[in-house]
Amino acid sequence: MNEMMRDIRVPEDWDRSGLPGWCYHSPALLELEKQHVFREHWQIACHVSDVAEPGDYRTMDVIGERALVLRTQDGDIRAFHNICRHRGSRLVADESGHCRNALVCPFHGWVYNLDGTLRGAARPQSFPPLDKQEFALKPLECEIWQGFVFIRFAPGPQPSVAELMKPFEAELAHYRSADMVPAGGMWTQETPVNWKSVRDVDNEGYHVAMAHPALQDLYGSTYYDEPFVDGLCRSFATYNPHAGRRWSVRHYVNISPENPDLPAPLRKAWIYFGIFPNAVIAVTPETVQFYQEFPLGVGRTLLRGGIYRRREETRAHRLARYLACRIDRDTQAEDVQLTIWSNEAMTSDAFAGFYLSDLEYGVRTHHDHLRKALPVVTLDEAPGETEMAAINAHMAKGDQP
Ligand code: FES
Repeated sequence: MNEMMRDIRVPEDWDRSGLPGWCYHSPALLELEKQHVFREHWQIACHVSDVAEPGDYRTMDVIGERALVLRTQDGDIRAFHNICRHRGSRLVADESGHCRNALVCPFHGWVYNLDGTLRGAARPQSFPPLDKQEFALKPLECEIWQGFVFIRFAPGPQPSVAELMKPFEAELAHYRSADMVPAGGMWTQETPVNWKSVRDVDNEGYHVAMAHPALQDLYGSTYYDEPFVDGLCRSFATYNPHAGRRWSVRHYVNISPENPDLPAPLRKAWIYFGIFPNAVIAVTPETVQFYQEFPLGVGRTLLRGGIYRRREETRAHRLARYLACRIDRDTQAEDVQLTIWSNEAMTSDAFAGFYLSDLEYGVRTHHDHLRKALPVVTLDEAPGETEMAAINAHMAKGDQP
């Protein structure tokens, strides 16, 4: 066993099936997922360097919610619903930007301080006196962990981010991700599949040998997946001793300078830290990035992420980062195609469900987490759309459907 590997083994006799096909195209289930899987679990909004200066902000419109993350005058990072307390307008419309020392609602001009308190309404004499706290922006739970800004839209079963991420804390600390700066900015992309099809592909490395020639060249059989346990999974790979059949991989392995800040086993490693339900923090010796997915509809998903680098970089680091991004970009395009082919089967009566390899145990354990969050997905046949929420609530209490 690799010295960095957690001792998590695949059980001898496990159920190799995945979620039934109906779970990938049910509008009623999607509404339950938005609440119990997405709003009630921590989500990565951005990195601290995306809101570097007081007044800098980022917005995140996902799962029917609008989040606003901003740096206050005293340097703290706070998160609010991007909803004016007057009539609910967006306070800021852009994905990112800067406001001087206040947020001014574009509808009627109410003004908020950067700590969220109401500074004043436009034409205040037309209202009774307005309490600055009572009419403050609604806060969101917000926690910074190793430079990543996590938010939560509703209370849920996970502990604090610090507690949740404890198993990754020591290993990721080597990368000093909190000190990093944006490398090319955050990105989004839409893809025409159910969000779970994206995660199903990302949660296993069984497909790497066949579908990702560059990754196979780079790390091939050194790659292994650890399944989801208590909301976290991890995948680890080191460079192949003979990597380099492909141009980008050959140059990446040759150029990539050894990072002396990292312990020896991490100097030639790519690691993926998975966070239930929908996010990954991935590290290479040059970069730290996050990526995640959010449902836009039953068959439409928003992919979102950001990539960060060290503040000081040598030319070799920059080149290596460029080549690593090239490998990643090819891999992502290949994954998008695989998710489409996998997802389109879900509406066919001929689809008999997954039959998973031991190397896909991560898919099973992610589904197990979904089964726990939403017991209705354990049903082989789709319940009626109108009864879905009631049946799930019933099953969550431990009752039979
Ligand atoms: Fe914001 Fe009216 S909705 S000021």
